[in-house]
Amino acid sequence: MDSGMVTKDSNWWVFTLPTFLGWKILLDEYVILYIILAFISITLITWASTPGGVAWKNNTISTISGGSGRNIPGPRGFPIIGSLFTLSRDGLAHRTLATAAGSHKAKQLMAFSLGSTPLVVSSDPQIAKEILTSPHFADRPIKQSAKSLMFSRAIGFAPNGTYWRLLRRIASSYLFSPCRIAAHETSRQLDCSVMLRNIVNDQIENGKVVLRTHLQFAALNNIMGSVFGKRYDNVDGKLELGELQDMVKEGFELLGAFNWSDYLPWLSLFYDPLGIVRRSEALVPRVRKFVLDIIDKHKRYRASASKMMMTDNGDFVDVLLSLDGEEKLDEDDMVAILWEMIFRGTDTTALLTEWVMAELVLHPEVQNKLRQEVDNVTMGKVVTDVDVVRMPYLQAVIKETLRVHPPGPLLSWARLSTSDVPLSNGMVVPSHTTAMVNMWAITHDSDVWGNPLEFKPERFVVSEGGVNVDVRGGDLRLAPFGAGRRVCPGKNLGLVTVMLWVAKLVQHFEFVEDGAHPVDLGEVLKLSCEMKNPLTVVAMQRNV
Ligand code: HEM
Repeated sequence: MDSGMVTKDSNWWVFTLPTFLGWKILLDEYVILYIILAFISITLITWASTPGGVAWKNNTISTISGGSGRNIPGPRGFPIIGSLFTLSRDGLAHRTLATAAGSHKAKQLMAFSLGSTPLVVSSDPQIAKEILTSPHFADRPIKQSAKSLMFSRAIGFAPNGTYWRLLRRIASSYLFSPCRIAAHETSRQLDCSVMLRNIVNDQIENGKVVLRTHLQFAALNNIMGSVFGKRYDNVDGKLELGELQDMVKEGFELLGAFNWSDYLPWLSLFYDPLGIVRRSEALVPRVRKFVLDIIDKHKRYRASASKMMMTDNGDFVDVLLSLDGEEKLDEDDMVAILWEMIFRGTDTTALLTEWVMAELVLHPEVQNKLRQEVDNVTMGKVVTDVDVVRMPYLQAVIKETLRVHPPGPLLSWARLSTSDVPLSNGMVVPSHTTAMVNMWAITHDSDVWGNPLEFKPERFVVSEGGVNVDVRGGDLRLAPFGAGRRVCPGKNLGLVTVMLWVAKLVQHFEFVEDGAHPVDLGEVLKLSCEMKNPLTVVAMQRNV
């Protein structure tokens, strides 16, 4: 059956039947049975005739852009739920989608349905670039948990418009600009020194180290330092730190959860097994209190300091408080923005570093070569941000890790089309479609990367015949930070932090596998894609 024959809303007749037949006849049990059977049949026919599944019934080629364009291939999934079950099953949606794109010959673009939501996913650099850089894909769909947790007013979910542009401008100038990042090197160094010291203690006490704990603590301190001007190295802050870590963990779980109600809204009325609504409602007042306390302290300090000037060492709260006129933000907006930074900045950098270290343990030759480079550049001195720029092998190791283990394999948070968007391959993405890029599929595609499963940093070392790829959104063969106007604004901060940490870790330790806990590269996709079993290593201290 030609899918173009499906009408705009094939269920209209259900609502008009009472008018034609009258209620009495309608209530006759046989009539009810026939109606139900007819309804099921129409649903099945609609589903069976629509590539991409049930949510695409109103979006066939005949209904968009005047019927021009090619049909977008894709799996039908099941009636009503579409591919919900398939994608929520194992926490590896990026792999499932890559396999489906292969079997439906839909690498360029694949249509599928999650409940009533129509989606497309691209596993092709050219089409991915068109999607990410198009002004018609500059919005994001928002999950129920993100909405409940106030993220609709933060950078990542604010709709493309004046407010979102203002936030991006403020963040780019005051948090992520090269001079702000440089100004915060001292605290980055401090966080890292604390981490190194804790690793030494952990190794002595336990004979092994679970790196993630230390990396997450350093990442939290790093972001708390530059955003809130707060650090947690001393015993005094233990209680507050515990509360913060608890809130961050809960927030990660809520935002990273695969919630069926995001795609079948009526389900939330009676089915919320993860308690998303209840838990979000409980978390918000805690977050507000925590952030507002910090804002209040800043306000009191600003009031007492005469004519305080903003300096490069001021934190992001100071910046937000100093905004005036049209730029002035209300308190809830500030809470949302500040809270978002903690979420985005903490787990991405920690988890990426954990992947780097896992690969270095599995590839001792790469670890040795990297250590050699660090030693040659630093001559035994403290590694600095400036040194890191002179370490091409370190940069290659990070790029190769981003390729093999992109922290956001589906680029974290999707995009939403705001109009029908024609693509260069003749397909048209209808308005209000959720669009994703499967960066994991692209970076594991043998047509794009030779021996994609092999961990080989040399492929990025120009002097060894490798390619110089811009990972910051300029080259869609490897764009782990996304691209276009919604590209990750924290990419430079993230990269500087991870490079400094890795350089310092290999400078101070030799890392080997812990016999009782072999490295397991198994992964699970939550808010970011993380190692399923946290990395455990033996950290042998070097004499530096
Ligand atoms: C390894 C580190 C990181 C990775 C891999 C990463 C990845 C990403 C990706 C893939 C996106 C979506 C981009 C798109 O739609 O094109 C994103 C958005 C975002 N990231 Fe990052 N990120 C990292 C670090 C950070 C840090 C450190 C911060 C802030 C402290 C941050 C803040 C944000 C924000 C605010 C957005 C939303 C931008 C918008 O919608 O306008 N990220 N990130």
